[in-house]
Amino acid sequence: MSSLFEPLTLGAVSVPHRIFMAPLTRMRSTQPGDVPNDLMLDYYVQRASAGLIISEGAQISPEGKGYMDTPGIHSAEQVAGWRRITDAVHAAGGRIACQLWHVGRVSHESFHQGELPVSASALPYRNRTSVRGEDGLPTRVNCPTPRALETAEIPRLLEDFRDATLRAREAGFDLVEIHGAHGYLLHQFMSAQSNHRTDGYGGSLENRARLPLEVLDAVVSAWDADHVGIRISPLGIFNGLDDTSGRPMGLHLAAAFAERGIAFLHLSEPDWAGGAQLDDDFRASLRAAFPGPLIGAGNYDLAKATRLVEAGFIDAAAFGRTFLANPDLPHRLRSGLVLNDPDLATFYGGGARGYTDYPAYDAPRTRTVTKA
Ligand code: FNR
Repeated sequence: MSSLFEPLTLGAVSVPHRIFMAPLTRMRSTQPGDVPNDLMLDYYVQRASAGLIISEGAQISPEGKGYMDTPGIHSAEQVAGWRRITDAVHAAGGRIACQLWHVGRVSHESFHQGELPVSASALPYRNRTSVRGEDGLPTRVNCPTPRALETAEIPRLLEDFRDATLRAREAGFDLVEIHGAHGYLLHQFMSAQSNHRTDGYGGSLENRARLPLEVLDAVVSAWDADHVGIRISPLGIFNGLDDTSGRPMGLHLAAAFAERGIAFLHLSEPDWAGGAQLDDDFRASLRAAFPGPLIGAGNYDLAKATRLVEAGFIDAAAFGRTFLANPDLPHRLRSGLVLNDPDLATFYGGGARGYTDYPAYDAPRTRTVTKA
């Protein structure tokens, strides 16, 4: 039986415990250029006691951007910004993976000089994203109907993932995590709801799984399987995608990931975003399909994380909102300390408030009782 507080090895990286920081988009990069900055450095260093930090999604290309002020991992300036962050996290004793992100249709033409965002198919759908409002603050707008990626564009997309992986290595990350979850581009290809293609990337389950697997192979070719993980959320409602038939897809992908011997599989569970709770049958099937390191996330508290790790369903637990609000979360969980509450109003965009000003726990001074 493993415990949350035991070490774990994920491919090339060993971690001292299994409480991870989930990827969290905070929309605070420097403009123009989507460049990681010193405020982000402070935020990540504060959380360096995580077994592993998984960075916020970093767009692999300008085309992969879908929200205001998210950082990229496709320019030299961005690499230099990330390098300062990874160096500082390492100096603080931590480890950090780069989440490689392409949003697909969860975007807006204002990020693409008026061009439409790309997706598996040109299907109208209802969802919103955040662009800069006239007051400079994020404002919510409808996502347009995307255009379908042409078959001939896929090699270029794979090349973008490869380049981003090379840049993440150069930027000093310990690992990369491909974002295959939450209704973004790779999930748009996986789901029969958003993928109506008639080429080799649409139709059958195997065809819909082709792009995520080709992306994985491209990323592995730019580093190696020991440094690559992937996040999926095969079931649930995310960004206008209600994937009710994701169960066989999740299991099919998990088996294909296992064959490739990747560093980890990261499962994002649906209930934090309005989906149903995952059942243990699915957890057991996923575990059987993927015997390697499995990270779970989604509405976890200490009790849920402990149960799932001890049952062997997962090997590590990633915390999102709780880590956002508690920079010293592993210490608090280990010692049973009270937790700060996250402030929803400051999740996305802005400055230090609600970002780097959550306090670490101050142990109350031992009261000295003096005898009268
Ligand atoms: C997220 N989540 C997320 N997921 C991801 O794969 N990449 C990302 O960039 C983000 N960004 C993000 C921002 C914010 C503010 C939130 C709240 C969530 C999802 C996140 O990683 C996690 O799966 C969920 O938050 C559920 O976990 P918790 O918060 O219940 O522990």
